[in-house]
Amino acid sequence: MKILITGASSGIGAELARQYASSNNELILLARREEKLQALKAELLPHAKSIKLLIADVTLFEELQEKMKAIDTLDMVILNAGISLGHNAEITPFKEFKKLYDVNLLANHAILEVLLPKFQAQKSGKIVFISSLASLISMPTAKAYSSSKRALNAYAEAVRYKYKKDGIKVITILPGFIRSELTDKNSFHMPFLLDTNEGVRRIVDAIAKEKRFYAFPLRFYLIISLLNFLPQYLRDKIVNFIN
Ligand SMILES: NC(=O)c1ccc[n+]([C@@H]2O[C@H](COP(=O)([O-])OP(=O)(O)OC[C@H]3O[C@@H](n4cnc5c(N)ncnc54)[C@H](OP(=O)(O)O)[C@@H]3O)[C@@H](O)[C@H]2O)c1
Repeated sequence: MKILITGASSGIGAELARQYASSNNELILLARREEKLQALKAELLPHAKSIKLLIADVTLFEELQEKMKAIDTLDMVILNAGISLGHNAEITPFKEFKKLYDVNLLANHAILEVLLPKFQAQKSGKIVFISSLASLISMPTAKAYSSSKRALNAYAEAVRYKYKKDGIKVITILPGFIRSELTDKNSFHMPFLLDTNEGVRRIVDAIAKEKRFYAFPLRFYLIISLLNFLPQYLRDKIVNFIN
């Protein structure tokens, strides 16, 4: 399989690369930090069929699209690059809010604008969106992150409906807390926190099973679903209490 992984220099993306590194797989790893990607390449080269690095900032949309155009064939893209602004009670500065939307949402469309016609032409292709359980409940301290991931779910759903007839499979993954550079910045208690290896093992398994929507860990997902099922006034009370 030829697989493109965005945000492959650390955390979930780097571990995805490790778990997909096998003699059958050609990996294309994209991120900004070249030294991190070079170290990962050195580590994985003995295991993978081939590894190509794309040093790119996903918010530089035109350059990103040129890099996508240079990819000839592809079996799967894992849209994993993402940022969080942490939890902050203050009003988010517009510039930071926009940057987050550029990375977490718009870059994915910039990539797919180029890749979708290629997938359509070959009548196959898997698109994996790494969303978040945070998309299912809006924490007042993470407005930009929660809303960007909820928008990503809506976008992914639309892509799934639209391109099903072309043999394109869309998989949306909603992880809870997984150990990474992103979560290392959190100073609060993270319920049901998973090790990177275990979290990514579950993602890889869900992709292999071609689950359209996979939210985990299950107990955390059920708690959030239950909250969403409650009448609004009760949910407001609980969310405000948690905050
Ligand atoms: N960890 C969790 O608990 C958790 C839970 C739910 C969802 N997620 C999602 O999982 C994904 C991966 O996050 P992570 O936890 O593994 O965090 P991470 O360790 O901070 O990794 C984020 C990755 O995104 C890349 N990235 C960020 N901005 C970029 C840009 N402008 N251009 C290119 N690449 C960029 C980073 O690479 P460079 O800095 O080298 O560019 C890095 O490889 C994100 O979409 C996140 O929202 C994480």
